[in-house]
Amino acid sequence: MNKINIAIDGPAGAGKSTVAKTVASLLQYVYIDTGAMYRALAWVALNSNTDIQDDSRLSALLHNTSIELKPSSIGNRVFVNQEEVTEMIRSNEVTAAVSDVSAHAGVREQMVKKQQKLAEGKGAVLDGRDIGTTVLPKAELKIYLMASVEERAKRRHIENINKGRDADLQMIMDDIQSRDQKDANREISPLIKAADAIEIDTTKLSAEQVAKRIQDLAEERI
Ligand code: C5P
Repeated sequence: MNKINIAIDGPAGAGKSTVAKTVASLLQYVYIDTGAMYRALAWVALNSNTDIQDDSRLSALLHNTSIELKPSSIGNRVFVNQEEVTEMIRSNEVTAAVSDVSAHAGVREQMVKKQQKLAEGKGAVLDGRDIGTTVLPKAELKIYLMASVEERAKRRHIENINKGRDADLQMIMDDIQSRDQKDANREISPLIKAADAIEIDTTKLSAEQVAKRIQDLAEERI
């Protein structure tokens, strides 16, 4: 059977990672969480006191850092220089820094190359902000997920409680709005729906319903 690549983009908390993970498992594809890669770099930068506004220092740091994603039932396990950072990259500190880290041209150039390499064998589901526009502009299926900001904050709040993370609803809402604003307004590869992406409003849908719809769309293209 022919394998395709699936790009899933959208704002923070729209359900991309849950949906992408489910779609990958339904189709027996590889799931690649590109946000986790930017978070991993933000984590290393904070831990090495690297200025997150300095593209050349961040780019050099990225060049000398190994970031690996390993598949698991909980999504991608993330390793930085062989150290597992899966939970640490979800901290409030990393979340607050990541959109500044990801705005830099040098950082994005290296990340995009790594992500393209991970998807070159096809049969991959990538989620992020610029997958359909920049990383995989020729992806056979492009999805743009969105939901109201209230619904996105509510979901992230429940997820954080279930995972034992800090969970203040107002803080989550503020973070989502601030990251959306930065991600959508940066100069390089801003968050934007690709012209040929199919938009799905997930506000009133379960993750399973959204994943099933994407699976159907994928099977039409295989
Ligand atoms: O997907 P997640 O919310 O974990 O992504 C964290 C951050 O990484 C985003 O807010 C965005 O700044 C950045 N990102 C990006 N491009 C991607 C994926 C994530 O700029 N493809």
